[in-house]
Amino acid sequence: MASSPRMAGASATAPALSEFSSDVVIGLRHPGQKELPSKYLYDSLGSALFDAICLLPEYGLSRAGMRLLQKHASEVIDCLPGPVMVAELGSGSGEKTRHLLEALARRQRVNYYPIDISGTALYRCQQELSQMEMVSLVGFESAYLEGLHKVVARRREGERLLVLFLGSTIGNFDRPAGEQFLRDVRGILEVGDALLLATDLEKPIPVLKLAYDDPPGVTAAFNKNILARINRELDGEFDLGQFEHVVRYDERERRIEMHLQSKCWQRIAIRKAGFRLELRKGETIWTESSHKYDPAEVREMGARSRFDCAGQWIDFEWPFAQTLFFAA
Ligand code: AVJ
Repeated sequence: MASSPRMAGASATAPALSEFSSDVVIGLRHPGQKELPSKYLYDSLGSALFDAICLLPEYGLSRAGMRLLQKHASEVIDCLPGPVMVAELGSGSGEKTRHLLEALARRQRVNYYPIDISGTALYRCQQELSQMEMVSLVGFESAYLEGLHKVVARRREGERLLVLFLGSTIGNFDRPAGEQFLRDVRGILEVGDALLLATDLEKPIPVLKLAYDDPPGVTAAFNKNILARINRELDGEFDLGQFEHVVRYDERERRIEMHLQSKCWQRIAIRKAGFRLELRKGETIWTESSHKYDPAEVREMGARSRFDCAGQWIDFEWPFAQTLFFAA
């Protein structure tokens, strides 16, 4: 293995087991609909399964994001005159970011700061991007907003910050929480700083359902892995064969929901959490939401969070938007 990523302000430790344990218990105790936080889908196996999802012909989302930056990276950069530093929320695979960094590096030396809670993700991002000439990368292993504060502290006189949020991860938040997140980001920025925000757009329901319930079952495996993770890390006794991957589209909320549905009445011990779960036949555990947007709605959400829209690029093959905002 090569050297570990260059990291600033990093604590290289994984999030405490007790936090995972208490989040699991809180979610599974939740009255009415049981749930598990979607962030726990992404351990190293879950992240590898997500990478496989991105290769599925049924899941057009990440390819759409890629196409947009292949085509429009220079246009985006041309909207931002003067010296620019770049932060990225979620280091992703780095591939999309490459197009933007290349466009900017034709003009100036670039300081690029990926922010991710996963050290592994940062490492992969560095593998992908650190050899770029004119680009120096410093990763922050932390939560998004916390990392953003640290990046802002490194700003040089007269420099503009460009924040990238390209994974369309905002879709995991419900609408009010997504908007609150934009407000929180805005609160850390200075007037004139920029945010490039990716959002998946509404499309025909059968297309969406197939994207999250693919015939080879990769997304089903990705979903069930959260139970396998509880087994591995918390000494749980989930039998994955007793669960079905279920995908719903909620038309009122305009979101895909992923659930794990119990095939029978069952009682499951999660030993390290000191917890026993009881599920009825047909009862579900809600594991993830993926909200779908309308292009104008994204601009309005920005406006309510003190962001002016400076440009919006849309992929029509797989309806998907990248919206460039200026902090107003
Ligand atoms: C990584 C949150 C953008 O919501 O489409 C893909 C996650 N879940 N297939 C999405 C996901 C199931 C994905 N995001």
